[in-house]
Amino acid sequence: MADLWQSAMDHAVAVARKAGQVVGKALHDDRKVMTKSSSVDLVTQTDQKVEQLIIRSVKEKFPTHRFIGEESVAAGESCVLTDEPTWIIDPIDGTTNFVHTFPFVAISIGFSVNKEVEFGVVYSCLEDKMFTARRGRGAFCNGAPLQVSEQTDIKQSMVATEFGSSRAPETVEKIFCSLRNILCIPVQGVRGAGTAAINMCLVASGCVEVYYEIGTHVWDVAAGSLIVTEAGGVLMDVEGGDVDLMSRKIVAANSKTIAERIIEEIAAFSPPRDDVL
Ligand code: IPD
Repeated sequence: MADLWQSAMDHAVAVARKAGQVVGKALHDDRKVMTKSSSVDLVTQTDQKVEQLIIRSVKEKFPTHRFIGEESVAAGESCVLTDEPTWIIDPIDGTTNFVHTFPFVAISIGFSVNKEVEFGVVYSCLEDKMFTARRGRGAFCNGAPLQVSEQTDIKQSMVATEFGSSRAPETVEKIFCSLRNILCIPVQGVRGAGTAAINMCLVASGCVEVYYEIGTHVWDVAAGSLIVTEAGGVLMDVEGGDVDLMSRKIVAANSKTIAERIIEEIAAFSPPRDDVL
């Protein structure tokens, strides 16, 4: 199977690059912005077009493979991860950035077999950075190896997080409680690129020590999860324990020490899982 997955990964890189060109060209076009789960959960025709482009292209080459795609799920398809080879696709991670021409958007493609991510591709198309990882073979950006930071002191650390797309007062309250706790540790900085996939690549690149978020979806984090671990990082649930990519809660850190320290400060809550939507 090894060669088969390599050819799937090569295909993912090629189609991500093609998708990135479409996204880049559409960035300054007029666009119709629609909403999904809330008035700030945005989608555009480019998200839908790019997802179809990727799925059509993969189906031609790998007709038996399955798909979990952000916009297909929004259109009513199921979001269940089986043991079958499955492409987990976010056609534009950072749709709000895309709508506002804020220059961080990514095409995120994870590929799982037996519910384990075998490879991940995150193409930060406006920066032209192609992040890739294959299980057991390391993580790379434009071919250069990635390594997480060696920092073990949370007070010398940079943290990435996002506000997500729920504006329910109790959710906003928890998000600010976590943020206040973390700022007051104190950490050296808190940042957010506006895309979960790029935040995870920043952990893998050693620019930030830890990224956490409650409210992500499996398509936001599948590819990035392998990029982080192949760069030497760890993944955990926001309440400690193993990460579950369907649970919509994630901590991606350079080390267990930093992950466990940040978890102490997170006011956890549980949005509905992806696989019961
Ligand atoms: C979103 C982005 C955002 C994160 C949300 C994601 P989308 O993905 O990754 O940074 O805060 O949780 O859903 O909707 O732009 O594909």
